Amino acid sequence: MSNTTYDRASEIKAFDETKAGVKGLVDAGITQIPRFFIHPKETFSISTNHQFQIPVIDMKDIETKRKEIVEKVREASQTFGFFQVANHGVPIEVMDKMRDGIKSFIEDDVEEKKKYHSRDPNKKVLHNTNFDLYTSQAANWRDTLSFRIAPQPPEPEEIPPVCREIVFEYSSRLHKLGEVLFELLSEALGLKPDHLKEMECTKGINLVCHYYPPCPEPHLTLGTSKHSDPGFLTILMQDKSIGGLQVLYQNQWIDVPPSPGCFVINIADLLQLISNGKLKSVEHRVLANKEGPRLSAACFFTTHSSLSSRPYGPIKELLTDGRAPIYKQVFLDEFAKHYKSKGLDGKSALDHFKL
Ligand code: OGA
Ligand code: NI
Repeated sequence: MSNTTYDRASEIKAFDETKAGVKGLVDAGITQIPRFFIHPKETFSISTNHQFQIPVIDMKDIETKRKEIVEKVREASQTFGFFQVANHGVPIEVMDKMRDGIKSFIEDDVEEKKKYHSRDPNKKVLHNTNFDLYTSQAANWRDTLSFRIAPQPPEPEEIPPVCREIVFEYSSRLHKLGEVLFELLSEALGLKPDHLKEMECTKGINLVCHYYPPCPEPHLTLGTSKHSDPGFLTILMQDKSIGGLQVLYQNQWIDVPPSPGCFVINIADLLQLISNGKLKSVEHRVLANKEGPRLSAACFFTTHSSLSSRPYGPIKELLTDGRAPIYKQVFLDEFAKHYKSKGLDGKSALDHFKL
């Protein structure tokens, strides 16, 4: 092991052991970011295209305008892999309270945060900086508080008191919204409305809340590295005013500016796999920012081997008219293991499972 590698590893360890996260660095008044947050120059070489916009789909009058809405969902899911929804039924106060809850926790006393600091994947409530801190090429400028909500929610006492009530309220609202979205997506694929639900796409929920502190050198690092999401679908609540989310489209970045009151929806890897590539799980990232903090909450509809021991492969109803499967059948523990070992390095985990 070279000296430089050794230094980097111990620097990371020392940082992690403070358990105070990136927020702790900012509170200490640093003006330069630690070296292990610096990304290689190539990270910033792709340009941003301001021509395209991620569509906003209005869900108002969903019963009478269903066909039209399904068509918009299909179009967006096959191109950008991303869309936003307005009039989705989740009250704005619930969204605001969720953001406030995350903020209160991260801005709470370090001693309080330490109680939840962990990297143990068996824990239902976790606070840490970067799930891949020890394995990634460069660290990301964000802290995270995450909850395994479904199928078996944490006990109330396991959740920090400052956000306890809202985490349950928010999750149950998002679970319902997720069920509606999976119906629309089933229909968009030409399947019966409950097809994806029957495949247990709504069974597992991880609520992952991010806090992106203001960064003194945002041009050197990222809030979240380029990645696609591992589960079936993600419902993301962005910050109210601070942007940074970008989606890769035709090899250029498209900004997804904050749209207060809307959710950002994106297709994730397992849905691309079971739709046989019809719906796209698209890479995205979050820029670091001088302003902040930026708050977001990603609700991942996902599953893992403890929930389901069946393999997932392309849906057979989609393999008509001579269409061949492009992906193998995948066992979930195998998929999760591959995704994790790969880290957020920008390559799709799905390539590994292509036929
Ligand atoms: C994620 C993600 C974007 C954001 O958690 O997978 O892409 O805005 N988050 O925090
Ligand atoms: Ni993501």
